[in-house]
Amino acid sequence: MTRTGLAGKGCLTLLVYPMVGAGLSHGSAGFDGDWATGGRMNFEMEKTPAREIYNLLIGLVAPRPIAWVTSMDEQGRLNAAPFSSYNYLCTDPPIVGMGVMDKPGGVGVPKDTAWNIKRTEEYVINVVTEDLLEKMNVCATDFPAGVNELEMAGLGTAASSVVKVPRIAEAHAALECREYAAIAIGNKSRIVLGQVVAMYVEDRFVDMAGPYIKAEELHAVGRMNGLGSYVRTRDAFVTVPRISYAEWEKGKRQRFALSRWRRWCRGAVRGLRRG
Ligand SMILES: Cc1cc2nc3c(=O)[nH]c(=O)nc-3n(C[C@H](O)[C@H](O)[C@H](O)COP(=O)(O)O)c2cc1C
Repeated sequence: MTRTGLAGKGCLTLLVYPMVGAGLSHGSAGFDGDWATGGRMNFEMEKTPAREIYNLLIGLVAPRPIAWVTSMDEQGRLNAAPFSSYNYLCTDPPIVGMGVMDKPGGVGVPKDTAWNIKRTEEYVINVVTEDLLEKMNVCATDFPAGVNELEMAGLGTAASSVVKVPRIAEAHAALECREYAAIAIGNKSRIVLGQVVAMYVEDRFVDMAGPYIKAEELHAVGRMNGLGSYVRTRDAFVTVPRISYAEWEKGKRQRFALSRWRRWCRGAVRGLRRG
């Protein structure tokens, strides 16, 4: 199979192929697919190097919301960094979770965000919107500990309502959190669970009828793979209401009647042709 042949298989192949190719050349990847046809790719995690697992996972679990976390050390020095292994997990109580890895290349050194939350137990998740994307990206730079990423990105702060850690002044929405639990995962990562104790949203983005967030106006962004691509959230393309069981049963009868009618029509057409 030539490179051109595989690359021609589309977007997914473009992302997966370089990793598969690399894996095969040094013979270590857990790829167990139909290499001749490129039809089915199975990666056994036990045989797949960590970097490739990362590439595959973030390509498949996408888009992801981004937690732009402000946190402080005991001296009150501010830190800001984005985390996209993030989501809400429960609402009563309201719990959000994020995965924080160790510093790259470090030997068991947690990222500053994880250190700060461990020590002060408070943080703020600022919502990343299209207008703030570039500045968020500056905050992902591996500045030395103690550097205030917000200053580097030219951003200001505003006081939070419950926690001591400030939110980003320019952010249009933010969740104030207290650490609920931190779970060590393997020896390089941890999941930080936070209880949301207050939410800040600019008035213009709240529809008080719900209240609902006017997502089509807030313009939050989602992260795709690790190659620096992001998606908009203003492109909701369809509204699909949930189906109750009663509606499902009713629909089943209608679908059955429709399929009998179609069968009858096909039979009638065949009969006419023969006749
Ligand atoms: C959009 C985006 C999402 C990221 N998501 C994560 C993540 O989920 N987990 C992680 O450990 N690092 C993630 N990073 C990398 C961290 O932001 C980066 O390592 C940062 O320097 C950590 O800063 P800190 O040491 O001040 O906490 C992400 C980077 C970007 C740009």
